[in-house]
Amino acid sequence: MTDRITLCRRADLDATGAKGVGLEYGGRWREIVVVRGMDGTIRAYDNRCPHLDLTLEARPDRFLDDNRSHLVCAMHGARFRVDDGVCVWGPCEGRSLAQVAIVISGDAILLGEG
Ligand code: FES
Repeated sequence: MTDRITLCRRADLDATGAKGVGLEYGGRWREIVVVRGMDGTIRAYDNRCPHLDLTLEARPDRFLDDNRSHLVCAMHGARFRVDDGVCVWGPCEGRSLAQVAIVISGDAILLGEG
């Protein structure tokens, strides 16, 4: 098995429900957001708003609304469902954040690609 890249630890999601991670992968810089949904399921998405291709957060690890049900783009307020990344409100409504494959191994959340 290839060595997978660690994105973060489960405990990194405790404070805000999400963790932004920047890493060099596949010859390019990537921004990824790891998020824990209301049902406890952990998912990851490319941290690139489909509206203007900007990162979502204005402050570190502050991606979620008060209910922790949607990721919010700080620039124009687009709201993306945590469960599937679909934008349900805002200028890119109907478009989606790109899902990132992850593997969970104990406490570690690993990049599933590669
Ligand atoms: S850049 Fe995200 S809503 Fe405009």
